[in-house]
Amino acid sequence: MTRVVVTGLGLVSPLGVGVKQAWNRLIAGKSGIVALDERFDALSCRVGGVVPQDEWSEASSANLAAGEIKRVPLFAQYAMVAAQEAVNDSKLLADAGESAKHTDIGCSIGTGIANMAELADTVTAFNNKGPRGISPLFVPRIIANMGAGHVSMRFGLQGPNHSVSTACATGAHSIGDAANFIRLGYAKAMIAGSTEACMHPIALGGFARAKSVATKWNDSPSEASRPFDKDRGGFVMGEGSAVLVLEEYEHAVARGAPIYAEVCGYGLSGDAHHITAPPDDGNGAYRAMKQALKQANVSAVKIDYVNAHATSTPLGDAAENAALTQLFEGRNLSDIAVSSTKGAIGHLLGGAGSVEALFTIKALETGDLPPTLNLNELSDPDVFKFNFVPKETQHRDVRYALNNSFGFGGTNSSLLFGKV
Ligand SMILES: *[C@@H]1O[C@H](CO)[C@@H](O)[C@H](O)[C@H]1NC(C)=O
Ligand SMILES: *[C@@H]1O[C@H](CO)[C@@H](O)[C@H](O)[C@H]1NC(C)=O
Ligand SMILES: *[C@@H]1O[C@H](CO)[C@@H](O)[C@H](O)[C@H]1NC(C)=O
Ligand SMILES: *[C@@H]1O[C@H](CO)[C@@H](O)[C@H](O)[C@H]1NC(C)=O
Ligand SMILES: *[C@@H]1O[C@H](CO)[C@@H](O)[C@H](O)[C@H]1NC(C)=O
Ligand SMILES: *[C@@H]1O[C@H](CO)[C@@H](O)[C@H](O)[C@H]1NC(C)=O
Repeated sequence: MTRVVVTGLGLVSPLGVGVKQAWNRLIAGKSGIVALDERFDALSCRVGGVVPQDEWSEASSANLAAGEIKRVPLFAQYAMVAAQEAVNDSKLLADAGESAKHTDIGCSIGTGIANMAELADTVTAFNNKGPRGISPLFVPRIIANMGAGHVSMRFGLQGPNHSVSTACATGAHSIGDAANFIRLGYAKAMIAGSTEACMHPIALGGFARAKSVATKWNDSPSEASRPFDKDRGGFVMGEGSAVLVLEEYEHAVARGAPIYAEVCGYGLSGDAHHITAPPDDGNGAYRAMKQALKQANVSAVKIDYVNAHATSTPLGDAAENAALTQLFEGRNLSDIAVSSTKGAIGHLLGGAGSVEALFTIKALETGDLPPTLNLNELSDPDVFKFNFVPKETQHRDVRYALNNSFGFGGTNSSLLFGKV
């Protein structure tokens, strides 16, 4: 079977703009969760993972034209800057002829909720001014595939142009589908990832009304996201984007590209259970992970690290722990590292899958296992038996790492990355 490898990384996140910056902060145990501005004052949750504005202004003015900053929706701008960093990193297009059109390179960039701010503003403008209140750019500013559209135009990517929207599993499905396009011969390389620019009171208000978010830490934002901790009380919403360059292995080797990791396996499943809650035993998650291992022909015995989906909700973290316990039955669970980087950045919704995939790849590359922030005490040590990498980075050589993503609507996905 065609092997698919990762040759470029790009990131816009609450821990910073740029892979190096954000990774160093993550490993140092820093948090990107902050108090939100006065637009959010009426809400029960007033904390979030916000992209640092100074770093974003600098990166956007260095990488985007003034007209793009004005007209392109923010979620697509995040993807464009992350894609630029990944493309710079991999030198894929420099090697292929920078200004050419590339029929054998495609783009797969999804988002969860696209552009809530534009919808809200347009409703207000319509109520005040009627149809004249609607911008001619309204439609291209709200449709979910515009991250893929803008990135493909910027780089002349004429291969598959794909956009997934599977709630919080979006990033994992974007990357998994892109890897499959390469395996099936649709493209030699894919620019793949996901993005979310969701920091709007209506978006956060919706999750607050669904009782999904943390409301007890408005005065101590960095403590609000606490995956697996006994005091966890809901997720913290965050924004950002990660983009990877995926490439056929032989193609990467032929041009001497640096290889970060191999995409070894990809599993997908549905819960067919409930609109927001997982089944207690995490059965959908279990089947997605099993399938990723089967596709890769890798036994669960070889997994050293799992970047958990764990969003810091009571039910979700417990269900994922149950699924992992079943997957690794027979192994010494305290010997397997399972961490959730959401303690540091919050839950990036559609952006989560790709950002955390990127962190998983960095863990494989460096052997640094990013910590689960705010994990002071497990809710039940007799049930939560893994090494959850509490609070501080650990170091360990990792051969294979699993990365899980699950979303509202009952969608589950898992990616397996391996060292090359
Ligand atoms: C990509 O490289 C160019 C040229 O070196 C640089 O100006 C730009 O800032 C880089 N973009 C990112 C996002 O790293
Ligand atoms: C594909 O890219 C074009 C620009 O080249 C864009 O207009 C279109 O929306 C994209 N299609 C999809 C499905 O993303
Ligand atoms: C799967 O891995 C096993 C053990 O490493 C090997 O014997 C077998 O040939 C592999 N199967 C496939 C289809 O590659
Ligand atoms: C399980 O793994 C832990 C951590 O590596 C180790 O301390 C412990 O001795 C192991 N237990 C058994 C029964 O092997
Ligand atoms: C990786 O794990 C994170 C959980 O920390 C999850 O949210 C994300 O969706 C996963 N990404 C992939 C590609 O599976
Ligand atoms: C599978 O997807 C569902 C969507 O309802 C998600 O909530 C759940 O967390 C996933 N399954 C598990 C066991 O985590």
